[in-house]
Amino acid sequence: MRQQKAFRIGRMCEKHLKEKIFLSQTKPPTSTTVPAIREISPASNVAGGLRLPGDKSISHRYAMLAGFAEGRSRLSNFSSGADPHSTLACVEQLGAQVERGDNGILTITGCAGTFQTPEAALDCGNSGSTMRMMAGLLAAQPFRSTLVGDESLSRRPMERIRRPLAAMGAKVDLTDGHAPVTIHGGPLQGVDYQTPIASAQVKTCLLFAGLQASGTTQVHEPVHTRDHSELALRAFGAQLERDKSGIRIEGGQKLHGIDAAVPGDLSSAAFFLCAAALFPESNLVLSGVGLNPTRAALLDVLRTLGVRLNVLELSEQHAELVGTLQVLGSPTGLQGAEITGALSAQLIDELPVLAAIGPYTRDGIRIRDARELRVKESDRIALVASNLRAMGAKVEEFEDGLDVPGGQHLHGANIDAGDDHRIAMAFAVAALRATGNTQIHGAASAAISFPEFFDFLDRVTER
Ligand code: S3P
Repeated sequence: MRQQKAFRIGRMCEKHLKEKIFLSQTKPPTSTTVPAIREISPASNVAGGLRLPGDKSISHRYAMLAGFAEGRSRLSNFSSGADPHSTLACVEQLGAQVERGDNGILTITGCAGTFQTPEAALDCGNSGSTMRMMAGLLAAQPFRSTLVGDESLSRRPMERIRRPLAAMGAKVDLTDGHAPVTIHGGPLQGVDYQTPIASAQVKTCLLFAGLQASGTTQVHEPVHTRDHSELALRAFGAQLERDKSGIRIEGGQKLHGIDAAVPGDLSSAAFFLCAAALFPESNLVLSGVGLNPTRAALLDVLRTLGVRLNVLELSEQHAELVGTLQVLGSPTGLQGAEITGALSAQLIDELPVLAAIGPYTRDGIRIRDARELRVKESDRIALVASNLRAMGAKVEEFEDGLDVPGGQHLHGANIDAGDDHRIAMAFAVAALRATGNTQIHGAASAAISFPEFFDFLDRVTER
């Protein structure tokens, strides 16, 4: 049903395109070490095929639950990004055994519900997902643990997890609302909690704590955020219910290991979908992409802009939809889009690249209700605005969004990615249609979610 509702099957995939996809899939990336400054020259087209590395959100959840579960899990296509590897290091430090096979398969033997007391602080690196979701698992464990992060993560708000965990009986110490997060773990009681902000990380923190609490935990969210945690918990053997009012999980459930393939990351695919959208003759095929409907709002926005999108194959893995996407540019150019309300929350990771292609549309991109962008790895509203201006664009900044007028021509510029992976990649895309070359400063940050990004971009851009 979901499959029928979501997409129509594409009608063609030319022979030359198939050959190009095959090449891309079999050739490993030439390099995954991204230099600090990366120069992007204008392109004339985007074409070819790519298979994307595993989804960051799903990789985090599978690594955490595999580390917590009883028995062995085998995970293929695990994200190559640094963030999920921070999660893996944390679960290893907590006693899970992680073997990295030559075949790319991760084997994780879990702790059967009781982690080992960590001897040192758990380093979450740049990863908000690691810090917020691990906190939920750790809150019920019978020991004290501390989660730390890099400079960017140490600036991000953590009160949003402290408050619900405290309502369950956990004592969590923060410094002025920020990391380090020290958790004095112990028995928890179920809670009925309305999250004030739309955040899948906060929801997950609560569900992971609720899994180990006494009684029932209910989470109500203002917007239905990505449901990977719900699907992953079920895959690992937990029961949980969802209805219009929220999600319910009973405490005391045991998890068992699974074999799973992580779908390709749609938020990484977004950069290529938007790059292809910039060229009327583009023809790009992305295979094995996760198409979970709670993540796939970008496809609707791209269609609104005038991009032609086909799904060539569709399957389900542990209830996660996976498909091959074919994107064909719009011969009449891109129109415009308005992204507000629930849509902004659902597209939160794709907003920087959508804003970055805004000048090349006819009617522009208007974004509101996206205040959360200000507390991501950087203040993404401010950085998108300043970098678009550096490229010569007019842009208006609002507390909760941006107005990027259409019909503008950009020129190459020095881009400050602010060590934020999504800003670095968004402006590499914007640079493809600019006049002259663009230097992305802080390009290495792409490795946080997508170390192969610049290599992949080279493969599919024509000059
Ligand atoms: C994520 C949820 C989002 C998103 C982040 C990954 C997740 O964060 O921005 O990149 O995996 O649950 P919030 O939950 O803070 O909105």
